[in-house]
Amino acid sequence: MKVLLIGSGGREHALAQALNRDPQLEELHVAPGNPGIAEIALCHLIDTDDNHVVVALAQKLEIDLVVIGPEKPLVNGLADALRKANIAVFGPSAAAAQLEGSKDFAKQVMHDAGVPTARSFTCTTKSEMEAALSTFGSPYVVKHDGLAAGKGVVVTDDRTLALDHAFLSPRVVIEEFLDGPEVSLFGISDGTTVLAMQPAQDFKRAFDGDLGPNTGGMGAYSPLPWAPRNIVAETLTKVLQPTIAEMKARNTPFVGLLYAGLALTKNGIRVIEFNARFGDPETQVLLPRLKTPLAALLYQAATGNLKDAPVLEWFDDCAVTVVLASQGYPTAPKTGEVITGISAVTDASVFHAGTVLKDGVLHSSGGRVLTVTGIGASLAEARSKAYESISKIRLRGSHYRSDIALAASTPSKIGEN
Ligand SMILES: Nc1ncnc2c1ncn2[C@@H]1O[C@H](COP(=O)(O)OP(=O)(O)OP(=O)(O)O)[C@@H](O)[C@H]1O
Ligand SMILES: [Mg+2]
Repeated sequence: MKVLLIGSGGREHALAQALNRDPQLEELHVAPGNPGIAEIALCHLIDTDDNHVVVALAQKLEIDLVVIGPEKPLVNGLADALRKANIAVFGPSAAAAQLEGSKDFAKQVMHDAGVPTARSFTCTTKSEMEAALSTFGSPYVVKHDGLAAGKGVVVTDDRTLALDHAFLSPRVVIEEFLDGPEVSLFGISDGTTVLAMQPAQDFKRAFDGDLGPNTGGMGAYSPLPWAPRNIVAETLTKVLQPTIAEMKARNTPFVGLLYAGLALTKNGIRVIEFNARFGDPETQVLLPRLKTPLAALLYQAATGNLKDAPVLEWFDDCAVTVVLASQGYPTAPKTGEVITGISAVTDASVFHAGTVLKDGVLHSSGGRVLTVTGIGASLAEARSKAYESISKIRLRGSHYRSDIALAASTPSKIGEN
């Protein structure tokens, strides 16, 4: 099988590594990729925002399956353009990607499908916004309706801040605050059938102790020793299956990765959000643990054949990933610094995200630069491998959290993030 993967982050590096492990894979192409991905696949420096260019590349390379990593090309209709050209693609249509692209649309789908989520109002006027904040009270949760690159959501006790954020967008979803630990749980779907993956937890805040600004994610781990035993089965029946059925009933079947961000509240699971693609950095801990060959699995999903797919199989190992971030990330990341020490890492996987080669020397080029995944028999072992490895990498001014999976690997603290 010849696969073309779209994207250039740590998620795509982990996808590339997992696709490469599948014996059915003959060629792996990535567009645009990054220096780390270029070590294990053929990279093509094309403009992936231009659907025609991607379709032309897939045709030229006689690609059997395109896997789309990031949300932007999905919302941009890349999957539609590929399907129109009769190319199998793992990734939802623009219409189905609205589950991520519009918070209001996701709420409507969940409402119609009976999926448990926070009560909410979609507001377009100032008086509606004020009334919604009063209905739910503090802490206030205000979400801009459209894609906002991680900056669209504010959770605050400060009503003025909440209102100011709401006024920035013509359409906002204001919802009740959900109290409880957060879990990411992904479903792989062919539009009809959906297979649930194992849960992971990510760390959104920049600094230790869940302090500082929100980020794209500073680390993740899987499995979750503290999670309820039935969480996968429950999420499958209460969230993933009804959502996939509702999308099909609306004639916009969701083919791809349905990311459910959940809050485990005292009243049960609630959906915080959907994304329409693999999470980053959760993918960097989930895929190293997945035993089922990935290329064949995603091909079955892309071609509507998941009901014949075997159940997902997992290694017993635990995985912990830690993100190395540039100085100033997320507020004002400083890029263009030299990165050294990766070759000294022997006991972990280093996934590139914001890196670039300049005259053969690796430099930082983004806020999140690398993700380092340790694997071990326990979370504690996986953690120490990840941290020992990341400490060998040198990047001036960089920072990483020191408490990824700390509570989960310390039995007395289980349940705390
Ligand atoms: N109803 C809620 N109650 C409590 N916290 C919430 C709620 N909704 C969102 N949050 C917090 O805000 C974060 C971001 O919200 P959400 O996931 O909807 O935004 P997003 O910008 O789409 O995030 P992502 O970048 O992960 O896709 C959540 O991970 C969660 O920590
Ligand atoms: Mg989102």
